[in-house]
Amino acid sequence: MQRTLVLLKPDCVERRLIGRILTRFEDKGLNIIAMKLIQITPDLAKQHYAEHVSKPFYPGLESFITAAPVVAMVLEGLEAIQVVRDMLGATSGLKANPGTIRGDFSSSRQMNLVHASDGEEASKREIDLYFDAAEIVSHTPVL
Ligand code: CMP
Repeated sequence: MQRTLVLLKPDCVERRLIGRILTRFEDKGLNIIAMKLIQITPDLAKQHYAEHVSKPFYPGLESFITAAPVVAMVLEGLEAIQVVRDMLGATSGLKANPGTIRGDFSSSRQMNLVHASDGEEASKREIDLYFDAAEIVSHTPVL
């Protein structure tokens, strides 16, 4: 089992796509083991996007990610990190294949609806950034 940190970004929240995107993850068989609506601060944005802070697009990215709430969650499942990345599609909504979340709902490189950890190290770091251990409730479906 793997865990991955997923953010439904401000564009997803403002376009009222939360339910439709969650349904896709649930339909795939991923378990939501933590979830909350939060407002990302500039400080948290810099920690989350540490590898992008010096890039030319970072100021716009920070303005975007702090403009409205996000839904932060931890998804758990077999090979969850790669499975979720594949479900999202390419970074740019214009390049993402039809059938992927970004390919179906986004036409933007910045406003690409959903973030997901890109590897095991990032997943651990990002989960720690958004959640205390007590907020994570791992459960194996019994029904
Ligand atoms: P995400 O998966 O959250 O990781 C980094 C984010 O930076 C990415 O999604 C986009 O929202 C944004 N991003 C990446 N490349 C660019 C770019 N060239 N211009 C603007 N935003 C970008």
